[in-house]
Amino acid sequence: MSVSLIQKYNIPGPRYTSYPTVPYWDQEKFSKNKWIETFKRSFKESNKSEGISIYIHLPYCESLCTFCACHKHITKKPNLQGDYVSAVLKEWNLYLGLIDETPIIKEIHLGGGTPTFFSPNNLEILIKGLFKHAIRHDDYEFSFEGHPNSTTKEHLQRLYDLGFTRVSYGVQDYNIIVQKAINRVQPFENVKRVTDWAREIGYTSVSHDLIFGLPFQTMDNVLHTIKKTKELQPDRISFYSYAHVPWVKGVGQRGFDENDLPKDEEKRALYEAGKALFAELDYVEIGMDHFSLETDTLYKGAVDKTLHRNFMGYTANKTQLMIGLGMSSISDSWYGFAQNEKSVKKYYRALEENQIPVFRGHILDKEDLVIRKHILNIMCHFETTWEDEQDQFEELDEVIKSLEEIKNDGLIEIYDNKLIVKEKARPFVRNICMAFDRRLQRNQPETKLFSMTI
Ligand SMILES: C[S@@+](CC[C@H](N)C(=O)[O-])C[C@H]1O[C@@H](n2cnc3c(N)ncnc32)[C@H](O)[C@@H]1O
Ligand code: SF4
Repeated sequence: MSVSLIQKYNIPGPRYTSYPTVPYWDQEKFSKNKWIETFKRSFKESNKSEGISIYIHLPYCESLCTFCACHKHITKKPNLQGDYVSAVLKEWNLYLGLIDETPIIKEIHLGGGTPTFFSPNNLEILIKGLFKHAIRHDDYEFSFEGHPNSTTKEHLQRLYDLGFTRVSYGVQDYNIIVQKAINRVQPFENVKRVTDWAREIGYTSVSHDLIFGLPFQTMDNVLHTIKKTKELQPDRISFYSYAHVPWVKGVGQRGFDENDLPKDEEKRALYEAGKALFAELDYVEIGMDHFSLETDTLYKGAVDKTLHRNFMGYTANKTQLMIGLGMSSISDSWYGFAQNEKSVKKYYRALEENQIPVFRGHILDKEDLVIRKHILNIMCHFETTWEDEQDQFEELDEVIKSLEEIKNDGLIEIYDNKLIVKEKARPFVRNICMAFDRRLQRNQPETKLFSMTI
């Protein structure tokens, strides 16, 4: 990859897990009642046909990993678990009170924070509580994020008995200098143990999260981590670009500074070398940041063009409605987004008042719906078309004009009604989406909002 292209396109940009992106949500046109209307509409349209998805945010972690950009709460108190599970179930019951049909749950994802901070008993109470008034879709897919240091065989077995068949483990990097810098010492043996257990029990998909661009990480570290990862043969690997966002309140990124991070071309070289090694090891690149074996459903989703992207990242199948439960969770009704209170205290307070604990959101207008479709097409399938009138929008000509430079750099092809992202442009896919992102283009941020695209 040319150094000058990397320098040119390495700018702050969104990861497009939603469009519009969270900083561009129009708070003035949003209200809780409007959110509830879109929720009801979406539920009616999709529950019987495709089912719904549920994301549950379990925010607690025992210690702070100083690279982490997720919403988490550090604590050693196990007695917080019961109240939190009751609160999430109360939230679920508030949603149930809005509908008069039994929900059919297709996907559940437990994310965090650290879901395995919770005991197997409490996780069972949570999942059984959900299903008191819901049924499983015939083709369901339940997954959770496990911390290799706290996942027990009992966690895996109990969740498997409840229908979970997919687990992802945070690995990041196996080098001890890097692990110490990010305050996450985690030997290979721990990851091997939990991966082997999952396989023995019958999990059909095990995923490992790796990150490039961490403090003190070298090319050797990254390649060594990938080779060790291959020994355990995970079905999927997320290979995330480290998002350095120390200005975001509460992320707790500290213990190193920008000089300790691999930069621009150095960081991109880590990605390129990693990608080449994944290919040698039979992993296929899927969308952005993801690699999978050809036997995994993510690969099939990419081939069948059913791949979808939402706040959970890439999924093999789309459901129109995703309800996010728990503090800071984001829900997506396709016609609107809503985010829950970001502190446990405020989340609890809203629930005590029998209120859906949403504090902000966005209702998509006609233009948002069309642009979101193009951004999803680009992120998931690396092409998009606008032959039909319904795929066009007022500023389409401006978008095409603004892509001229990316086209001249040989990264995309543009035909009358179609855009194709070339293989070598994969690192720049966020930059291409940014041209379609009219809310961003009309109102460029004055302060830093997003991590760098590369
Ligand atoms: C909620 S965490 C994983 C679950 C569990 N708490 C653990 O640590 O194993 C989800 C994943 O997000 C990724 N992640 C977190 N912060 C990140 C950052 N600043 N940049 C890139 N990826 C990040 C990590 O790969 C992490 O494994
Ligand atoms: S990486 Fe996982 S365990 Fe570490 S702070 Fe983030 S959510 Fe918690």
